[in-house]
Amino acid sequence: MPAFFGNLRNTVVAGLIITLLVFVIAWQLQALNGATLWPFLMRWLHVIAGVMWIGLLWYFNFVSTPTMPNIPAELKPALGRFITPAALFWFRWAAMATIVLGIGLASIYGYLLQAYTLDAVEGFSNSKTIIIGIGMWLGTIMWFNVWFVIWPNQQKALNIDNRYPDLAQPQKDAAAKTAGMFSRINTMLSIPMLFCMVGATHMIIG
Ligand code: HEM
Repeated sequence: MPAFFGNLRNTVVAGLIITLLVFVIAWQLQALNGATLWPFLMRWLHVIAGVMWIGLLWYFNFVSTPTMPNIPAELKPALGRFITPAALFWFRWAAMATIVLGIGLASIYGYLLQAYTLDAVEGFSNSKTIIIGIGMWLGTIMWFNVWFVIWPNQQKALNIDNRYPDLAQPQKDAAAKTAGMFSRINTMLSIPMLFCMVGATHMIIG
């Protein structure tokens, strides 16, 4: 048992097998059919990717950054050299997967443009489209911040992949500050973004 769970791949495969069992039960119960299956699978993968992304964002903001001042100086480098770069890998690719699957979802439901324009063309009459559109804008801004602000600045601050070996300490500090601020902005935006994601289907009447 400990050997099994010592291996991450086994753990993930086991999770997928349990999911498959639940899927077979749902299929037997005729809870889904061919038409609902693909959008649902996309929705499920979208939420999984989103949890990975926002989970790591909250790890940075609720755990890693506030704990940093209490870590003894000789242990601090472990975080910057090993843990944060690994976390940033999953963080940015999960953000990418989330937006691709989210845009895919809006496309198969046929409201991608309508949502991104907040239903302006129809005269702001469809509340679901407006709410998911606000969520999609918030998520898209957050995705932009991850790829074009947080990640490049973290690369500088931590010299990830040795891309900035000669950067002076004040520049590294400035990059860390910018990354930290945008990480906080994304934490703030994640709260209304999730309100919209879930609210679009479950809050609105009708
Ligand atoms: C980055 C841009 C994002 C886009 C473009 C996007 C797009 C969408 C779309 C189109 C839906 C389907 C709404 C519907 O018709 O019911 C949805 C649902 C959802 N999204 Fe996102 N999303 C994004 C980010 C995120 C993130 C970061 C999370 C974090 C977990 C997330 C979690 C959810 C959840 C929980 C649902 C609702 C699932 C349900 O109620 O069945 N989304 N999203």
